[in-house]
Amino acid sequence: MKLFLSAVAIFALFNGISGLAGKAPTKVLNDGNKIPTLALGTFGFEDIPKMRSAVNYAIEAGYRHIDTAALYDNEQEIGKGISDVLKKGLVKREELFVTTKLWNDKHARDQVVLALRESLAKLGLDYVDLYLIHSPEAMNEDGSPANIDYLDTWKGMEEAKQLGLTKSIGVSNFNTEQIDRIKANSKTVPAVNQIEIHPSNTQEKLVADCFARNIAVMAYSPFGFFVKRGEGNKPGNDDPRMVSIAKKYNKSVTQIVLRYLLDRDLIPIPKSTNQARIQQNIDVFDFHLTPQEIATISSFNKNTSIFS
Ligand SMILES: NC(=O)c1ccc[n+]([C@@H]2O[C@H](COP(=O)([O-])OP(=O)(O)OC[C@H]3O[C@@H](n4cnc5c(N)ncnc54)[C@H](OP(=O)(O)O)[C@@H]3O)[C@@H](O)[C@H]2O)c1
Repeated sequence: MKLFLSAVAIFALFNGISGLAGKAPTKVLNDGNKIPTLALGTFGFEDIPKMRSAVNYAIEAGYRHIDTAALYDNEQEIGKGISDVLKKGLVKREELFVTTKLWNDKHARDQVVLALRESLAKLGLDYVDLYLIHSPEAMNEDGSPANIDYLDTWKGMEEAKQLGLTKSIGVSNFNTEQIDRIKANSKTVPAVNQIEIHPSNTQEKLVADCFARNIAVMAYSPFGFFVKRGEGNKPGNDDPRMVSIAKKYNKSVTQIVLRYLLDRDLIPIPKSTNQARIQQNIDVFDFHLTPQEIATISSFNKNTSIFS
């Protein structure tokens, strides 16, 4: 068994997927921590049982960053996947970057640390690398709006960081005004804002505002309408302009979409549970798009959100 495990480690080393680097380069956050620039997305209630194997496939393929959330109800399965790859010796804990999120019904300041401890117990970890407020909107358990200011929630996030339960803290689905309110009233600037970005919703203004404040941006639902989204949403992956760019680089249209986001200095979070697609989605670090190609893809923008 031992022999087999060291063979796996040597294989990983020669394939350049061992150690800190993984396949995605890292970026330095405003608190000095490093974040891998591509993460495995994990949202999908019907896919929860597949998450353990998805994490295994992802780490084997060179991912080092996993994005989850209390809302996704999959932290336990993801924790099992992480435990597998640690046991196999593919990575050490400090070589992984795990992001999770505080759900809207735990926004009260004194609930934040408790909620994070619950997530950590499910993940089987002592700390996460990044903890995000999932959304600025506070809710009661029944889903009705709760009257809690996210500035109070942010104080709870700062406490979680001080306790060492998370290395970095950030937000998700926050607009510029909400970020500026945090900046004006707290000691810690969010390290990350995670928002919906894809070719139909390019978010240029909010991204520029985040970068001007030294806040990294994670791009969720990165494929936008280039993958099937429920009935009636025709994937746009036959667009001749995209097909021609894909042909030039010998890549798929979905890989071009990921490269487009990376070339805009964003951190895409492609979700898949399929081994071949997981591998394909990280095979995007051997080429760059031209400024003209980036402009072409940005011109698809219609400010169309998937979630609203
Ligand atoms: N912070 C937030 O509020 C928020 C909101 C939404 C999402 N997120 C995060 O962002 C992640 C990604 O967003 P998302 O799941 O909405 O969308 P996505 O990653 O843009 O798309 C996922 C869909 O694309 C398919 N797919 C994956 N790779 C593919 C490929 N190479 N070719 C063709 N199809 C492919 C997947 O199917 P298979 O699994 O079958 O491959 C799945 O149906 C989430 O999983 C979650 O971690 C965060």
